[in-house]
Amino acid sequence: MTLNHQPTAPKHFLSLLDLNEEEAKRLIARATELKHLRQRGEHYRPLVGYTLAMVFEKSSTRTRVSFEAGMAQLGGTALFLSPRDTQLGRGEPIEDSARVLSRMVDVVMIRTFEHETLTRFAEHSRVPVINGLTDRFHPCQLLADIQTYEEHRGPIRGRRIAFIGDGNNMCHSYINAARLFDFELRIACPPGFEPEPEILAAAADHCTLMHEPAEAVKQADLIVTDVWASMGQESEEDQRKALFTDFCVTSALMAQAQANALFMHCLPAHRGEEVSAEVIDGPQSVVWDEAENRLHAQKALLELLLLDQQPGPGRAD
Ligand code: CP
Ligand code: NVA
Repeated sequence: MTLNHQPTAPKHFLSLLDLNEEEAKRLIARATELKHLRQRGEHYRPLVGYTLAMVFEKSSTRTRVSFEAGMAQLGGTALFLSPRDTQLGRGEPIEDSARVLSRMVDVVMIRTFEHETLTRFAEHSRVPVINGLTDRFHPCQLLADIQTYEEHRGPIRGRRIAFIGDGNNMCHSYINAARLFDFELRIACPPGFEPEPEILAAAADHCTLMHEPAEAVKQADLIVTDVWASMGQESEEDQRKALFTDFCVTSALMAQAQANALFMHCLPAHRGEEVSAEVIDGPQSVVWDEAENRLHAQKALLELLLLDQQPGPGRAD
């Protein structure tokens, strides 16, 4: 056995498009298998000896707990690192942090602001890097969303999904998901809050951009929304509230979609802003399953990144 060998280039998960169609399908199916395993009370610990470092430059409930609990359930360990109490917050270059952390742990998850911070980290990391949310993408959430849709309604391929609200990181990840999972995405956002044109252009055959929520939800099988002001946009909150008022997902809007349409929101939600309480707490909402599935989908992701691709824990130097 070769110790201290140089690993092959690690497989990262910086956006959904780091997966091919086959990997994505397999991952979603595996997430549901891992969920059933846990429901049966069976222990499955393939990651004994593995460590995940989690770098959080923004707040989190679901992402932190799902990765931390997921790693524990798989037999590994997770470390929570924040800029407040690491040298990251005191200006140590991200490249140096990547070099150091990736010599000590087996996988790194980062939640940060600029997507480039994540890509720079990944370029200098010897181990897989996972995007736990950047200003541009939130791919882990989409794994859970697709799993949730398919558990409730079967294959998402060919379905019509409506994304209502800001052309933000969630919207961008839905655009990538439309390509990867082959569904139709209709996006309704206020003028001036459209998704990035290049991301949209690359998915032009799967996505339509409009400014009328009622138009977007017609015949839709799933309605999705997200906060109007994302983390880092707190100073724009009041201005955005005024501009987004017509983009609240209400029962009246849901009534214009398919009768059995589902509602999803990555959470945290603001009842009375992007979604009415009646919808998020109503029978079409699957937000709690969606939140739970972060755990199962990310366990499947860790398995894929660590066991399909890598030689074992504690490699590399
Ligand atoms: N949906 C999501 O990522 O939630 P957290 O911000 O709580 O991690
Ligand atoms: N768009 C939101 C998602 C939170 C999970 C944000 O970036 O704050």
